[in-house]
Amino acid sequence: MKSTLFCFAAIAQMTLSSVSAESIQRIPLYYQKRTSGSDFISASAIDLKNGMLGGVVQIGNPPQNVTMAFDTSTGFSWVRGTQCCSENCQGRIAFDPNNSTTIVSPNQNFTMDYGKGIVRTNIYTDTFRFAGLTVKNMPFGGAYDMEGFEQGFDGYLGLGRDVNLNNSCTDIAKRDVPASGFVPNAFQQSSGLSSAQFGMYTTSSGNGFSETGFSQNGTTTVSNVSYSRSVAPGGYGIAKRSSSVDEPAGYLVIGGIDTDAIKGDLYHIDARNDGSESGNWAVSVNSVKFEDDLEFKISKDAKAVLSSSTDVIGLPNAQADEFQKRWYAEYDKPDNTFMIPCCLMDNLTSFKIKLGSIKATIPPHYWSHPRKVTSCCEMCRTHIGKSESDTDYIIGSAFTNSFYTQYNTDENKISLAMKKNHVDDGLELTQD
Ligand SMILES: *[C@@H]1O[C@H](CO)[C@@H](O)[C@H](O)[C@H]1NC(C)=O
Ligand SMILES: *[C@@H]1O[C@H](CO)[C@@H](O)[C@H](O)[C@H]1NC(C)=O
Ligand SMILES: *[C@@H]1O[C@H](CO)[C@@H](O)[C@H](O)[C@H]1NC(C)=O
Ligand SMILES: *[C@@H]1O[C@H](CO)[C@@H](O)[C@H](O)[C@H]1NC(C)=O
Ligand SMILES: *[C@@H]1O[C@H](CO)[C@@H](O)[C@H](O)[C@H]1NC(C)=O
Ligand SMILES: *[C@@H]1O[C@H](CO)[C@@H](O)[C@H](O)[C@H]1NC(C)=O
Ligand SMILES: *[C@@H]1O[C@H](CO)[C@@H](O)[C@H](O)[C@H]1NC(C)=O
Ligand SMILES: *[C@@H]1O[C@H](CO)[C@@H](O)[C@H](O)[C@H]1NC(C)=O
Repeated sequence: MKSTLFCFAAIAQMTLSSVSAESIQRIPLYYQKRTSGSDFISASAIDLKNGMLGGVVQIGNPPQNVTMAFDTSTGFSWVRGTQCCSENCQGRIAFDPNNSTTIVSPNQNFTMDYGKGIVRTNIYTDTFRFAGLTVKNMPFGGAYDMEGFEQGFDGYLGLGRDVNLNNSCTDIAKRDVPASGFVPNAFQQSSGLSSAQFGMYTTSSGNGFSETGFSQNGTTTVSNVSYSRSVAPGGYGIAKRSSSVDEPAGYLVIGGIDTDAIKGDLYHIDARNDGSESGNWAVSVNSVKFEDDLEFKISKDAKAVLSSSTDVIGLPNAQADEFQKRWYAEYDKPDNTFMIPCCLMDNLTSFKIKLGSIKATIPPHYWSHPRKVTSCCEMCRTHIGKSESDTDYIIGSAFTNSFYTQYNTDENKISLAMKKNHVDDGLELTQD
């Protein structure tokens, strides 16, 4: 078996590698290059705002290149269309349906409400090419209106479960829309994939957010320097310095499990079916606490939605209030995160959550940014926010990037494992 280090080095050079024995595609993901303007490191994937990962997807014939963020919160994919002129569409590459010879328009519209943002689209099907995979008749939305999305990408690639796009009440011109999930479609069209599952992991020295590189006005700095996320967010749990430009920030693994990237067991959690309508990956929550500080009362049917489109661990409303009181926190509404007086950062204790039968322990440095300060009034960032629900949780990249995460559409389950190179720092996964 190859050593992980060898794999990383080799893949970084090859851009894309297909591990033929297992028929999996291991696609390197890269950071946005912050040292020289807004260029991206030229590679098949890049990192986007707030820890979102993305890549260049080619849509249609001839192919139009768009940068899409990977989103596990739904199986719906969309891209800005040329017909979108609203303010939030500006500064994004637009997909022009008139320029593709293979496009089909089923004459349906679809609106996806992400809570923080909403996108209204005309549905099309066309060819998607990404990382050596070609998916024909892939359904997606061409946005004619969008609100509340951050800059840095042209659309979302839906890595969640299938969404039913047959929502139209217009019966006459209606045509059937195929299933929407990118990975199941890629698998069905058997581009050599051995299963309809995928995994994501970030490469990391195991130090979580405390070594994260953040961008300020074009220069990369380390996280004990104050930064403003409204200027240049980059919260992404990984050590990355401007000197090591070629190391991938992580991998998207399509078609199987990248066993070389895992240390110990892969723990499985059944995904909940009540989330399947929205296409999200949700699991049952059985207990949640901040060790020694706050033990929350969980509602009977509580669930957590795993979402790669946010960095935030979102608590239900009442629990978010408790967290805020306990830590004298300020709520930054646009950012949906709590800020805590910096002098209390050392008091924070691990976030512990039981998802199905799996217990995860996430030490504070994975979800907070302590820094040296001269007065206690200065506030420090966390990745704890609100889920905007009375019962349910959102598990964003501050959590998922800590682990190897695997999504299995066929068996309807999510799996978590420790990453191969993880150095013991209090991060834990156990199963009852
Ligand atoms: C689109 O992306 C492909 C693959 O990344 C690249 O080879 C091609 O030059 C790009 N085309 C344009 C017009 O940028
Ligand atoms: C495509 O072309 C038609 C006719 O030329 C035009 O009416 C329509 O607005 C165009 N659609 C887009 C999305 O640009
Ligand atoms: C569509 O085609 C027109 C005419 O060839 C061209 O001007 C335009 O840039 C194309 N749009 C895209 C998004 O490729
Ligand atoms: C879809 O949205 C467009 C606006 O882009 C609107 O003109 C059209 O009537 C809508 N079609 C359906 C089937 O709702
Ligand atoms: C849409 O409806 C057709 C039949 O009317 C069905 O075959 C297809 O699977 C449906 N698509 C989804 C995503 O449910
Ligand atoms: C970044 O730029 C803004 C506006 O140009 C400026 O106010 C701020 O001080 C700069 N920050 C740093 C760290 O240079
Ligand atoms: C970060 O803090 C460490 C000690 O806590 C200090 O040595 C280092 O210089 C700081 N880095 C920056 C960029 O201020
Ligand atoms: C933080 O920890 C210090 C030292 O352990 C303790 O004195 C203080 O009360 C704690 N503050 C809070 C708000 O928990």
